[in-house]
Amino acid sequence: MTQRVKVASLPDCVAYVQLCPLIKALRDKKKIVIIAGAGISAAAGIPIFDAMPMASTTIFNMSMYNNENDTKILNEIFSDMCHRVQSANPTQFHHVLEAITEEGRLHRLYFQNINGLDTQLAPLKTQIPLPPKGPSHFDPALFASESSLPSCTECKVHKLTGKAPVLRPRVWLYLDDDYPDANAIGSVADADLQKKFDLVVVVASALKVESAKKLMKDVCTAVRRGGGIAVLINLKAPTRDLDFFDLVIE
Ligand SMILES: *[C@@H]1O[C@H](CO)[C@@H](O)[C@H](O)[C@H]1NC(C)=O
Ligand SMILES: *[C@@H]1O[C@H](CO)[C@@H](O)[C@H](O)[C@H]1NC(C)=O
Repeated sequence: MTQRVKVASLPDCVAYVQLCPLIKALRDKKKIVIIAGAGISAAAGIPIFDAMPMASTTIFNMSMYNNENDTKILNEIFSDMCHRVQSANPTQFHHVLEAITEEGRLHRLYFQNINGLDTQLAPLKTQIPLPPKGPSHFDPALFASESSLPSCTECKVHKLTGKAPVLRPRVWLYLDDDYPDANAIGSVADADLQKKFDLVVVVASALKVESAKKLMKDVCTAVRRGGGIAVLINLKAPTRDLDFFDLVIE
């Protein structure tokens, strides 16, 4: 049975009592998995997808590389995000993650974002699955040029077009079937599903991306089968799939 808590509609003391199972779990559980979406960084001033000028499925889509005007729009968005990330600080939620990691209780953080607010905290530094080449090594100016697209300086110029291949950020876009990090991410997830966890928290994700939704379902099912609990925390709960969770907090 899924228990739902709508924090904003409850007096503080009632909300506190209803949130106790989560508070207790975050304090006591020893093998925790977190699946986090863009919303955990919203308080740091990084826009979530709903705040973008176009639908995220249109922008973060390989088809944006089909013509130069679209590619420039995509590059400007990456460039803008990168500028914001450089002046952003980790949020309170990032510090909760830091604390449970320091105590050795966070087994895995799946994060759909590449803003590096998590990995700049010492206990959350990671090499898996990506080497630490976060936004600090990414030159936003490269992707923001009005006149030209950033081209690879190490690749050969194409014989027919006379151009070098265009550089793109290392981000998994919609319709990108050849994304080089996909296998690494998949094998980490497969290995995790063989392990035993006692808490999974899915947080600040609208669960609209199919691959993230599948991961959420697989991990929640595995955790609950092993006797653990699954919690969803989001501003607004999605309308479907809530029965994958023991506790849904809005
Ligand atoms: C990606 O772009 C293509 C072509 O514009 C579109 O058909 C598709 O719906 C977009 N989104 C996704 C999630 O594939
Ligand atoms: C791209 O934008 C330029 C300038 O706004 C315009 O002249 C051109 O027609 C556009 N190209 C395409 C393929 O839409």
